[in-house]
Amino acid sequence: MIIPINLDTGSYPIEIERGALHRARELFRLDRKVLVVTDSGVPACYAEEIAAAAKEPYLVTVPQGEESKSLSAFEKLLSKMLSCGFSRKDCVVSVGGGVVSDLAGFTAASYMRGIDFYSVPTTVLSAVDASIGGKTALNLDGIKNIVGAFYQPKAVLIDPDTMKTLPGRQVSNGLCEALKMSITSDPELFDVFEQQDPYCCLDEIITRSVMIKKAVVEQDEKEQNLRKVLNFGHTIGHGIESAGHALGLYHGECVAMGMIPMCSKDVQKRLMPVLKKLKLPVSAPIDAEEIYRALIHDKKAAGGEVSVVTVDEIGSFSFRTIPLSSLKPLINIVTEQGEKA
Ligand SMILES: NC(=O)c1ccc[n+]([C@@H]2O[C@H](COP(=O)([O-])OP(=O)(O)OC[C@H]3O[C@@H](n4cnc5c(N)ncnc54)[C@H](O)[C@@H]3O)[C@@H](O)[C@H]2O)c1
Repeated sequence: MIIPINLDTGSYPIEIERGALHRARELFRLDRKVLVVTDSGVPACYAEEIAAAAKEPYLVTVPQGEESKSLSAFEKLLSKMLSCGFSRKDCVVSVGGGVVSDLAGFTAASYMRGIDFYSVPTTVLSAVDASIGGKTALNLDGIKNIVGAFYQPKAVLIDPDTMKTLPGRQVSNGLCEALKMSITSDPELFDVFEQQDPYCCLDEIITRSVMIKKAVVEQDEKEQNLRKVLNFGHTIGHGIESAGHALGLYHGECVAMGMIPMCSKDVQKRLMPVLKKLKLPVSAPIDAEEIYRALIHDKKAAGGEVSVVTVDEIGSFSFRTIPLSSLKPLINIVTEQGEKA
């Protein structure tokens, strides 16, 4: 299936199909110099397959993990392209999760003020979220995604077969972002999570999530208003992620907990069993005050108030601006002390 993303600045296709990796040459223009960027945790065969389809491939493997979204990794990729004589007519392909697509996308956006970029997401999270919408980013001085650009790919190739090698916890991590979108925007997708085995419905979940993100991004490419709906669960989620750094929680796991207090009681009743089914945490062993402190440093907090997305009914949402202090009782809902109280 091909889903077009139509933006004022141009359109590009997202192909979702099992086995599509073998047809990269049909979807991407690879008859030129191609920098294929992957990381050490992604099975090497995926990037090798893209490289084999290119006329003049240069394969670079960065270390897996968030640390690769760094200025030094960015500089290494730029130097590689420069020393290999890349021109404005050449291109970059990312093969991996959100770390690789954020890094490779930003590199493509910067080299010679922008060369063609293609993405092959191999994690569920990058398929449903990171690879769609054109956000690229690096981290700096411990601040996530503080350097970056909106830079749309020329095409995205999603082959769910590449996700067979993904550990179960990573699958759940990505499914959480899809679940998030279903709660605000697609009650039928929520039904899939509720009534079926989500691990067996990956293709349907990815496709419906791409459709939701497409609709949002097409209306608000640069996050002026509607795109903020994608931050549902992220306010308290980010606080848990920062305060619980030592616990090694994944982003999706923190968002899972962050969504709970933002839902009405009725929605919570339906959400909790789904989170448990996905083996996502529903509370964290972290001091609520620590989460609050981490959260008030969040960039979205301004003037003692914070913008949040709340859900009263599955498939709809509201934007609310609330005083920061009113987050305290909400945080209590997802901390273990709060649960006992
Ligand atoms: N640009 C955006 O719009 C956007 C949106 C959401 C998240 N992000 C970013 O995405 C990143 C997180 O992405 P992620 O969850 O994909 O993490 P990731 O890229 O770190 O991938 C997770 C792990 O899975 C491994 N892996 C990847 N594909 C695999 C496969 N098919 N089989 C086995 N292992 C595989 C990787 O090596 C890594 O160790 C964060 O940096 C986040 O900021 C960006």
